[in-house]
Amino acid sequence: FTNFVSAHQVSTNDAQALIDRAEAFKAGTPAPAHQPVYAANLFFENSTRTHTSFEMAERKLGLTVIPFDPGHSSVTKGETLRDTIKTLAAIGINIAVIRHPEDTYYEQLLDVSPTLAMVNAGDGAGQHPSQMMLDLMTIHEEFGDFTGLKIGIVGDLSHSRVAHSDADMLTRLGAQVMFSGPKQWFSPEYQQFGPYVPLQELVPQVDVLMLLRVQLERFNNNENAAFSKESYHAQYGVTEQLAQTMKPSAIFMHPAPVNRDVELASVLVDGPQSRIFTQMHNGVFMRMAMLEAVMQARHFGAVPAHSLNH
Ligand code: CP
Repeated sequence: FTNFVSAHQVSTNDAQALIDRAEAFKAGTPAPAHQPVYAANLFFENSTRTHTSFEMAERKLGLTVIPFDPGHSSVTKGETLRDTIKTLAAIGINIAVIRHPEDTYYEQLLDVSPTLAMVNAGDGAGQHPSQMMLDLMTIHEEFGDFTGLKIGIVGDLSHSRVAHSDADMLTRLGAQVMFSGPKQWFSPEYQQFGPYVPLQELVPQVDVLMLLRVQLERFNNNENAAFSKESYHAQYGVTEQLAQTMKPSAIFMHPAPVNRDVELASVLVDGPQSRIFTQMHNGVFMRMAMLEAVMQARHFGAVPAHSLNH
């Protein structure tokens, strides 16, 4: 992975190797020593988990993290994203972790510098590869395999970069993916991965119920005025009553932040079938594995090679 930007570049073998490496880090395998490598995290959209988790992963790997605050950067003076990345490369940044509201922003940056790698921390409604990989790790930890697992992805499909990345990879790994939520959000692009199933029919059959946040900040004024949290929860949310129809072995996942009592009854977020905070915990180890794979591909820090070979 000379850059890690999309689910499309991850083969099923890559996914399994990254899961194995992340699980080894979680089990206590130390990060190999290396020469200095410099990382900057550029978040042009707000984030709690992804930003903090990447920084934690970078520090656990022994990278030097150089702060970057978009609000106090020269982007506010009109400097382009491309010039910003070119500047960071000139200064000596090796890895730029970027979140940006524009879909596929990274395509215009792939040729900026041979000495700077990009890791996509989320582009608009496009891709969220690190969330995808930590989701795979969490499912793998729980079930050991993906083949034949029934996975329901429910909620704001139209704005979800998580759904785009996860549906693609989970299908390739042999899981049976199904979708639910407001039907108008089930766009034709999802039909290649699986069917739309009404929520009451979906919930009792799935092994994993993956709920998506309603992204109110991306709604226009009319959509915001028409939206009712209570009626969404009653129609498309998982209530305590509906959750009782789940298989006892089934789990809830959610990329978070969660709109409690909208996508999922608040008590279920912290309940025994929730893996939402496990996902966040796993994200640190998975991001270590992803950053390490990029460093190896670029020969940054002369890291000793392991099984990943790109
Ligand atoms: N899941 C996720 O991307 O959360 P943040 O927006 O807080 O990073």
